Amino acid sequence: MSFIREGELTFIERFFANILKAGPMPKHVAFIMDGNRRYAQKCHVERQEGHSQGFEKLAETLRWCLNLGIREVTVYAFSIENFKRSKEEVDGLMDLARQKFSRLLEEQCFLNVCFAYTSRHEICNAVREMAWGVEQGLLEPSDVSESLLEKCLYTSNSPDPDLLIRTSGEVRLSDFLLWQTSHSCLVFQSVLWPEYSFWNLCEAILRYQMNSSALQKARASYMDERKRQQMAKDQAYVRKKLQQEGTASHEDPVHQQNLLQQYTAMREERIQAFLQALEQKRVDFLDRLCTASA
Ligand code: FPP
Ligand code: MG
Repeated sequence: MSFIREGELTFIERFFANILKAGPMPKHVAFIMDGNRRYAQKCHVERQEGHSQGFEKLAETLRWCLNLGIREVTVYAFSIENFKRSKEEVDGLMDLARQKFSRLLEEQCFLNVCFAYTSRHEICNAVREMAWGVEQGLLEPSDVSESLLEKCLYTSNSPDPDLLIRTSGEVRLSDFLLWQTSHSCLVFQSVLWPEYSFWNLCEAILRYQMNSSALQKARASYMDERKRQQMAKDQAYVRKKLQQEGTASHEDPVHQQNLLQQYTAMREERIQAFLQALEQKRVDFLDRLCTASA
């Protein structure tokens, strides 16, 4: 048996990876990479070195994820709260990001880097975007729903994470993906981020596997309930409209069904137009930002 590395994993790691892959695997994993400074203190090195090793660990973890067939990873690289740290540390983290981001792009998986992010800020922004849509006449107030809010989040192009891992023994989410993790498996591990190992990742995946069927069921039943509630809301709206019109046909179920279809199709059209306008608004904002910083 050889323990020399082949590809990215040793023989024993590959053996274990194959056993894990026989079970349900998370498709999307989120990380709160915590413990860089405690690691630096423990090893008697500079803080910046702790962050730098944290970055190296991220690159290594991405390769493990690829080997395990996990194609999407989201990381909490910098919280808005982190701006409260010393100028020296913030500048150091910004430098690290500037120097190293491009290296991360070389990894062949979807990597979402949450930088200057908090979840409450993201949700609040989504609410503001919907209010803007109503103000512009693109949306009706009744179009505002959980599913529309979700489409206004920065993560709207990604499925929710199946598994969220936080290192360093802290057992809180620190304002990270609060909306997106309501049906995710949350795993808190005591290891400091720069010391994270392949085996820590396997342990977290095992914990996901032990809970995955309950998580899937909870997610599916929540989605069914959400659809049912939307349908009930639409039906109530159509009934009210017909009663207001006072036409003789308001009791006719076929007429009601037709109106319901028209109403939902019109809402869908409004939402699509709003989402396109929102996309354009975001592109314009980024353009202005780039022009201003050029
Ligand atoms: C948490 O440890 C880590 C951070 C605030 C920074 C996370 C960034 C990296 C791991 C580097 C990745 C960089 C890029 C460019 C994506 P901490 O500073 O809170 O340490 P502590 O919990 O021990 O105090
Ligand atoms: Mg910390």
